[in-house]
This record gives sequence, C-alpha cells and structure tokens, in this order.
Amino acid sequence: MNRSKTSRLPEPPADELAHSERLLQHLRETIASHGPIPFSQYMERCLYAPGLGYYSAGKTKFGEAGDFVTAPELGSLFARCVIQVVQPVLGMLGDEADFLELGGGSGAFAEAALLAMAENGVLPHRYLILEPSADLRERQRERLAAALSSDVMARVVWIDRPPEASWRGVLFANEVIDALPTTRFVMRHGEVYEEYVALDGEARLLRVDRPADALVAGAVRHVERDLGREFEDGYRSEILPQLPYWMQAVAGSLEAGLMLFIDYGYVRREFYLPERQDGTLMAHYRHRAHSDPLFLPGLNDLTASVDFTALAEACNSAGFSVAGYLPQAQFLIAAGLQDVFERAYDAAPDDVARYNLAQQVKKLTLPDQMGERFQAMLLARGMPALPLPVELLEADQGDRL
Ligand SMILES: C[S@@+](CC[C@H](N)C(=O)[O-])C[C@H]1O[C@@H](n2cnc3c(N)ncnc32)[C@H](O)[C@@H]1O
Repeated sequence: MNRSKTSRLPEPPADELAHSERLLQHLRETIASHGPIPFSQYMERCLYAPGLGYYSAGKTKFGEAGDFVTAPELGSLFARCVIQVVQPVLGMLGDEADFLELGGGSGAFAEAALLAMAENGVLPHRYLILEPSADLRERQRERLAAALSSDVMARVVWIDRPPEASWRGVLFANEVIDALPTTRFVMRHGEVYEEYVALDGEARLLRVDRPADALVAGAVRHVERDLGREFEDGYRSEILPQLPYWMQAVAGSLEAGLMLFIDYGYVRREFYLPERQDGTLMAHYRHRAHSDPLFLPGLNDLTASVDFTALAEACNSAGFSVAGYLPQAQFLIAAGLQDVFERAYDAAPDDVARYNLAQQVKKLTLPDQMGERFQAMLLARGMPALPLPVELLEADQGDRL
C-alpha cells in the first residue's frame, strides 16, 4: 500500500480494520491457491464478496455519514425530475409497463420516485429493483416499507436477475456503471497488458501486469481504432470488455421502452486523453477521494468513470438507439427542475427546508459539483414515438459520442 497517497485519510475504527483484514485474508487465500487475479476480479471481491465486500456488508456508505453522496441522497428533486421525464413514456406504454431500477443503493431514489408517481396518479405496473447486495436490499425494503402506503409498496418487487420474459417499460440506473468491476490495462512495447493483483514475499497485495487475453486486447484495439491513434507505451487506463454482454443480459428482454443511465464520465476521446496516464479509477473513504485501490480493501468504494461512447456501443448492440446524451445539469433543467423546485419550495415547512432545497439545486447543477461531471444517456427501443421534453431534445449532445 502506498502510504503517501493515503496518510491524510481518517484512521478507521478497530472493527472496520478487522473487517478489512477478513477480506484481505480471503483475497490472500484466493491468490495463494489460484495465482494473481485480474484487477476486475479484485474490484469485484472488494465491492461484492458476500458478507465482506463494500456493498455487501453492513457499513454505512451513503449520505453525510458515509463515504460519498449520490444525487438521490441529496433529497427528492433529482428523482422528481427523472419521473417527469419517464412518466409520459410509461403512460404511452400502457398499464402493463414496469419500472426497473438497477442498483437501488439506500432506496432514496425509489422512495422519492414512487411518492412522486403516486402523487401524479401514474404508478408503474411493478417497480422492480435489481440489487445484488443482500444488505442493501434489506435496507431498501425497510426504508420503503416505512415511507410508502401498502398499495404502493405492493408494486415493489426485488429481483435477483434481469427479467427473462419480455417486458415493456423504463430501466433506470444512477451511478451503477461506475461500480461495475473494471479491467485495467497498460501498453508495453506496443502490446496490451492487463493489471493483476498478486502477493509479495510478505503476503502484501501488489499490482502486476501480464499479457492481456484476446478479449481485453481486442477491446483496447477497438478503442484505438475508434480514436484513430495508438496508446503510448506506459499508458494505463480502464476498459469494460464485458459491457456489451452485461448490457445484453440486463436489457435484452426490454422489448419496448426507455433506458436512462446517469453517471460520471466522458465521451471516449475525453476519457482516453493522452495526458490521463493512469485512468480514472478512484477510491472513496469518508468523503475523501484517493488513488490507492489496495488501501484497506472492503472499506473503500472503488469506481471508474464511464466511457459513454462504450456505453452507447453496448446499448446499440443490445438493440437500443441513443435518444439523448447531455450533462446532468441540462438534463435536470430540461426535465423541469425549476417547476419541481418551486413546488417543493412552496410546500417546505420552514427556512431550513427551503435552504436545503436551494443547496440541492446547486449540488445537482453547478459545473464544479455534479452538473457537468455527470452525464445522462437516454436510449430507446420499440418506441414508434418518444414523448421526451422538447428542451431535452434541443440540449442533446449525442453527436459528441
Ligand atoms: C454507487 S451505488 C449507487 C446507488 C444508487 N443508485 C444511488 O444513486 O444512490 C451503486 C449501486 O449499484 C449496485 N450494483 C452494482 N453492480 C450491479 C449490477 N451488476 N446490477 C445492478 N446493480 C448493481 C450496488 O449494489 C449499489 O446499490
């Protein structure tokens, strides 16, 4: 572990250190018996190992007390804007249309979205939540049961895998693609290498590079061809070679409807800037970002920015067309943020609530906060007409992909 990168981080309490040590032991055993593991597998273990991973164990992650704040955690404005955009689509698809949320986190989005939909009198047939973490699923269930009436709650269904039968509706994911275990690659003498996690002589984790297999090398070469240039020796970054397969698995059965992905990231030529020599991988611990993914495994969130061009390609190959791509601020404004804010402001009980609403708007939209770092991508399939706000279509930057 590189202490210089992490020395300014708060010291975790003893129980958290013990928790990380258990995951570390599990990783050491895996590497000792199978050899070095690809970085993507290391990240997958760190985030999702049952009972041990960051998302699978009962540690607070979301909100002020956690490690990071997502847009739905700030308050209900974000979810209300999303609902303004998707509700006409659900209406057009009819009574059988479902809403599928991937990676529900603390349940904040589902709560605000379902309350907004219930207020508007247009509920989806079912509100499906695909959440791989058993711990988070439990937290979502408790939160929604406390907040929703029993008839609204009756529409919420947790699913273990994507729907197999064809369905119609809306698929939504906020900050899920950035949490998918990423492959790291590096160029050496013109060849593609993949980053692995190994053990040194004292059983400490270390990162090593090995020649990439055909899947990873092919994905990197595809990016080079698309950029029209080769990566320089020593250039290191992330790539999701599995993304088209993941997308097919997740969205393949959505025969008619809209998908909306919101995440931080860039179009491909901005993602793979020549000067971004070490990719976009970040670890988050208690609201501090650092760059050592081997530091205290299991206690840090690990994320990589999204290559939205790759996301569009994966969705295209699963049969979807891009219907819109724009920064979060412009998406929310086009979705009617002004109206949503004014209604909430008028209904707010006191000055503190009004101040919080104004803060929410700033965090969601200011360029140096979430406004421009986050992008919204809308994709459609099987929709002869798509009832999206004109402002949204006017602000579309899909030609940059
Ligand atoms: C950074 S959190 C975002 C949570 C929530 N959407 C929000 O904005 O607050 C990532 C979420 O994605 C979930 N997740 C990770 N991999 C997933 C997958 N393959 N399918 C669905 N959800 C996934 C995690 O368990 C977690 O709930």
